[in-house]
Amino acid sequence: MKAVVYKGPNEVSVEEVPDAKIERPTDVLVRITTTNICGSDLHMYEGRTNFEVGRTFGHENMGEVIEIGNGVDAVKVGDQVVLPFNISCGFCKNCERGFTNYCTTTQPAPGAAGAAYGFAGMGPYSGGQAEMLRVPYGDNNCLRLGEDAVEKQNDYVMLSDIFPTGYHATEMAGVIPGDTVVIYGAGPVGLMAALSAIIKGASKVMVVDRRPDRLALAEQIGAIAVDDSKTDPVQFVLDQTHGVGADRGCECVGYQAHDPQGTEDPALTLNRLIQSVRFTGGIGVVGVFLPADPGGIDANAKQGKIAIDYGLQWLKGQNVGSGQCPVKKYNRQLRDLIAVGKAKPSWIISHELPLSKAVDAYKNFGDRVDGWTKVILKPE
Ligand SMILES: NC(=O)c1ccc[n+]([C@@H]2O[C@H](COP(=O)([O-])OP(=O)(O)OC[C@H]3O[C@@H](n4cnc5c(N)ncnc54)[C@H](O)[C@@H]3O)[C@@H](O)[C@H]2O)c1
Ligand SMILES: [Zn+2]
Ligand SMILES: [Zn+2]
Repeated sequence: MKAVVYKGPNEVSVEEVPDAKIERPTDVLVRITTTNICGSDLHMYEGRTNFEVGRTFGHENMGEVIEIGNGVDAVKVGDQVVLPFNISCGFCKNCERGFTNYCTTTQPAPGAAGAAYGFAGMGPYSGGQAEMLRVPYGDNNCLRLGEDAVEKQNDYVMLSDIFPTGYHATEMAGVIPGDTVVIYGAGPVGLMAALSAIIKGASKVMVVDRRPDRLALAEQIGAIAVDDSKTDPVQFVLDQTHGVGADRGCECVGYQAHDPQGTEDPALTLNRLIQSVRFTGGIGVVGVFLPADPGGIDANAKQGKIAIDYGLQWLKGQNVGSGQCPVKKYNRQLRDLIAVGKAKPSWIISHELPLSKAVDAYKNFGDRVDGWTKVILKPE
């Protein structure tokens, strides 16, 4: 089958790899119909993780079930399914409590937790930017879709990661109706956090970035765009909230945060959040931060040590939540909002391309070319 293979920093190719197949009785085999490129793929594509050369990318996947192992009960051949990027067992200590993002069964490294398709440090699993995908613990990991699955596939595929992840940022931040919310990052994840905050009834949602195309998408759903190349975002938020700061904040950028001129500072968004969220407010950090960053700006950053204003954060008594999103906690509920038309996450898609164009897609998305917001790939 064809798949997107990592060849080294800033290089992928679409090549023939061995077909995905059923390996265990609990596996489901899916023919991929839509698979996305994510900001998380870019950290790996750019060589900023320990992702191994020769592996396949792709953790935002949906498709049609073409084969099931003989231990699979609920999922049937022909079902249209969307797969959480987390691969989880459903029965370990963490899964039992809903933390499928920290499954200890599917993560083989001792002392580690959490697995994903085509992801650095998250197990040996192949990615879904390919014609087929093996889904371990298929009954647990497949979310089945209804009759509108094909018609709305560009919406439903966002349930694999970014819609639940944006929602998770607002959950960790504690957004409730009436809250003011500031979101750093208007990438796909930040835009989904904005959509989620609006769905939850936030009174004011401010989204900070400097890319006009992305800020315009935030405005399309009723958020306030804050261009930090023109405005001091902390002052802007204070001005919008009677000087006290937003009730809630979301970090949707990650460790490659930089100033508008491009100078990297992994603490920038965290410090701005600490400054622009009020005393006793909440902060949800879904942007990725890692314990090792080969391309970090200095010796500390290379070890994932980030100089945040902890004193101020402590003083303000803010709640901070972080980590990968437990997609299964939200995907069913969010699916049903899509089904009835109350959420349409496909509004952010800028490019729908055949899988064979993945090299070009990674190049443009990786170079942050204007207008490349969210790329979805369709195997031919
Ligand atoms: N926790 C999870 O489960 C999870 C899931 C998916 C993605 N992620 C992570 O979320 C982050 C965002 O993903 P994405 O797909 O939206 O990525 P992206 O790279 O497309 O978007 C990041 C955005 O942040 C902006 N930005 C950079 N520095 C900034 C700053 N100082 N202030 C404001 N904006 C700034 C960029 O201009 C860009 O628009 C990434 O780190 C990704 O790995 C986490
Ligand atoms: Zn993703
Ligand atoms: Zn588990």
